[in-house]
Amino acid sequence: MRRRSVEGALPGPAPGEAIVTPKRRKPEELRSYRWYGKSDMRGFGHRSRTAQMGYSRQDYVSKPVIAIINTWSDINPCHAHFRQRAEEVKRGIWQAGGFPIEMPALTLSEPFQKPTTMLYRNLLAMETEELLRSYPADGAVLMGGCDKTTPALLMGAISMNLPAIFMPAGPMLRGDWRGNFLGSGSDVWKYWAEKRAGNVSEQAWEEIENGIARSHGHCMTMGTASTMTSAVEALGFTLPGAASIPAADSRHARMASDTGRRAVDMVLEDLKPRDLLTAASFDNAITAVLALGGSTNALVHIVALARRAGVALSIDRFDELSRRTPLLANVRPAGKYLMEDFFYAGGLRALLVHVQDLLALDAVTVNGRTLGENIAAAETYNDDVILPRERALVASGSLAVLRGNLAPDGAVIKPAAADPKLWRHTGPAVTFNDYNDMAARIDDPDLPVSAESVIVLKNAGPLGAPGMPEWGQLPIPKKLLAQGVRDMVRISDARMSGTSYGACVLHVAPESYVGGPLAFVRDGDLIELDVPERRIELKIDAAEFARRRAEWRKPAPKFERGFGALYQQHVTQANEGCDFDFLEGTAPTADPEIH
Ligand code: FES
Repeated sequence: MRRRSVEGALPGPAPGEAIVTPKRRKPEELRSYRWYGKSDMRGFGHRSRTAQMGYSRQDYVSKPVIAIINTWSDINPCHAHFRQRAEEVKRGIWQAGGFPIEMPALTLSEPFQKPTTMLYRNLLAMETEELLRSYPADGAVLMGGCDKTTPALLMGAISMNLPAIFMPAGPMLRGDWRGNFLGSGSDVWKYWAEKRAGNVSEQAWEEIENGIARSHGHCMTMGTASTMTSAVEALGFTLPGAASIPAADSRHARMASDTGRRAVDMVLEDLKPRDLLTAASFDNAITAVLALGGSTNALVHIVALARRAGVALSIDRFDELSRRTPLLANVRPAGKYLMEDFFYAGGLRALLVHVQDLLALDAVTVNGRTLGENIAAAETYNDDVILPRERALVASGSLAVLRGNLAPDGAVIKPAAADPKLWRHTGPAVTFNDYNDMAARIDDPDLPVSAESVIVLKNAGPLGAPGMPEWGQLPIPKKLLAQGVRDMVRISDARMSGTSYGACVLHVAPESYVGGPLAFVRDGDLIELDVPERRIELKIDAAEFARRRAEWRKPAPKFERGFGALYQQHVTQANEGCDFDFLEGTAPTADPEIH
């Protein structure tokens, strides 16, 4: 049985197939009616103050009120076009008979916000939920894209469960340096390592600085931004194809107004986030991430989204799906191209066609059609960018979840981004107690480190850092770089930018700060990594392990007051999604009283 969208005609029904035309809600059934529809004193106040903003009754009476949650800011280059895009979203909302209300929300600007945007993801999620709850919103357009903005906006919208559609920021254009394409993040790491090795001049470095980010839009490698906007499209929360459109392309502006138009109909059809979210739709999102070679950050965010929707999802599901999903997007850091090329090659829909046998094609999406219907007509226009299954970049296992005495609750590695020689490796630990310790000593010529060593960074997790920053691509010591070493095994409880690469074991849980086994590792201990067997082990005997555990002392809290204090009391571990424990689940929260 299919749900017919009012947005456009579907192909005719198959014989015997039932088509359900959604019931259209009446104005008095809308949530905003409680604010605008009553002829009491409060209703007078809401209408007179709307008149104060220059709107006539005809502008809004009996119309769905659509909140545009806009994460624009002067300090967020990835969302620099959002003031214009908000106008385009409004154009669509007006045309479809809605009443747009733009609401600025906390921006999470990956390059600038310290110690990490991840510390504030849940704050934006809370803000989104409470904006929608406390104002007369009937539905929402969520404007995000820069890394954590995507999961944060969706987490809040899922909890509020009003009709909501995501408008992805779109990737920026390819970077350029002397005619070479540059990729966000990936080429920074690459050329920074070459600069530290003495192979890139100051002048060349400055040219790279000026050419790597040359338009608005989010990072254009398969970093966390492209990963999460694509995951959210596969989950069913964007118009078909939206996540792949470059921000500077005029098709992006048209997608914005289409998104606004659709938001109005979603309200009238009462199509809500939790109508779309099932174990199968989360599998679709994970499969998309794996076929894209997406960021390891997706584990944390997708688990958090699922827990908001009341869908049980373990990080082990990523490993299970990874074993059957080929990596087909030839996009950096795993591959060669950039998101602009990916769009021209057909974009996410074309990619999903190649793995459609691994998808739940009957999953409903925001346009009222199924994922299968949305990708049915998609084609691949460049099979060097979107690879056929027989030429997969990695046939399976592009992402692996590890367990062992060093990570009882799990850790993750992206084998596709690591030197295969390191997939099975045992070496002596070189430990750093925190990031500052590492920064102070990593390039010390006397540091007892070799290419065989395993570098360990502690206190970089959700509570220890705090905020679980993207520190997990630990730097390779300068003296090893000079010897030509470009990859080695590195372990931390941090995350890693999706644009990074290397044999980096990440998200070790529980983290060292709360007494996870990483806290007990000492210099010289042997650590064994075995990716094919999905194991990570500290090679000390059980008695020594127990002795070190008994000696461990809980560190002092990082915050005495403020948001940080709330964060440290309630944030969960990486394998649980790093949400606040009191925000998880689907327990209903009443709409506000209006008196
Ligand atoms: Fe915004 Fe990378 S800095 S997406």
